[in-house]
Amino acid sequence: MARPQQLLPNLTFLDLQPPMTDAAREVAASLSAPRPTLDPKYFYDERGSALFDAITRTPEYYPTRTEASLLADHADAMAAALGSDLGPDLVIAEPGAGGCEKVRILLDRWRPGGYMPLEISRECLLDATRALAPRYPAVRFHAVCADYSQALSFPADDGGRPRLVFFPGSTIGNFEPAARGDFLRGLRHLASDRGYLLIGADLQKDPARLNAAYNDAAGHTAAFNLNALHHLNQRLGCGFDPEAFAHRAFYNETLHRIEMHLECLRDQSVTVGDQRIELPAGSRIHTENSYKFTVEGFSRELIGAGFTPLSSWVDDDNLFSIHLARAA
Ligand code: AVI
Repeated sequence: MARPQQLLPNLTFLDLQPPMTDAAREVAASLSAPRPTLDPKYFYDERGSALFDAITRTPEYYPTRTEASLLADHADAMAAALGSDLGPDLVIAEPGAGGCEKVRILLDRWRPGGYMPLEISRECLLDATRALAPRYPAVRFHAVCADYSQALSFPADDGGRPRLVFFPGSTIGNFEPAARGDFLRGLRHLASDRGYLLIGADLQKDPARLNAAYNDAAGHTAAFNLNALHHLNQRLGCGFDPEAFAHRAFYNETLHRIEMHLECLRDQSVTVGDQRIELPAGSRIHTENSYKFTVEGFSRELIGAGFTPLSSWVDDDNLFSIHLARAA
């Protein structure tokens, strides 16, 4: 078992060395399926993360700023719901913490005892926590480099301290319904019996508003979608011509999800590992689903995963929700 390294007086780093996936095999299989797909994780190389950042600042993409306002506006009410569990013993655990941006609101307002970001990108995790830890000397930072499956099985060895699992951004909406249930049960395990979950969930709304959010006028979402092809060209030498694909994003009202696709504008053939894959003009690669919820429906999913919902908060325009639930 890896041992934590002390990087700063209040920062330890534990590297669980997340295993590399066999990307060539995975991509070849998903692209040669009858309905070709790509896992949304391929959006995210350095450029993809910068493009996602740009998306969150567009006027059309409301989730990030709405969620940040909800956290700021209701941090005290959330603290009240946690009662005496919020104190120097509380550890906030954040799977997929990225640049540890959103948690700052909670660190500023709550001053918990500990913060445990779990993140697959070692550089991102180290850069973010090295910058953040000195600003919160009273908070113990335990940075853990881990993939989602390692993160969710990470034991609650906080010496019986209560854990609050923080999963913002409506990233939960990027899971398919069955996988979502499994993931929520994983979050329940990470929270442990004495713990809580604070999670963001984007809401169903006027399709025009949703379509605009995933088709911003500046073209950042289109560039983000197409970046999956640039990333795969660089990583696996696939030979996609990204110029010969068009970004398509639309709300599927039956399934309550935004779908993102890359439409092939001319016949292309690409190489993935030792496989040649033909993509005829007009065919589409399905790159992402982003499910949208109702407050009641999402609360039911939390109950199904073993949580007891305590409270939820929604902005005045009913765009986004944040849910606080107790494990057990
Ligand atoms: C990361 N995730 C919550 C974003 C979403 O809205 O589903 C990803 C995204 N895709 C296009 N724009 C943003």
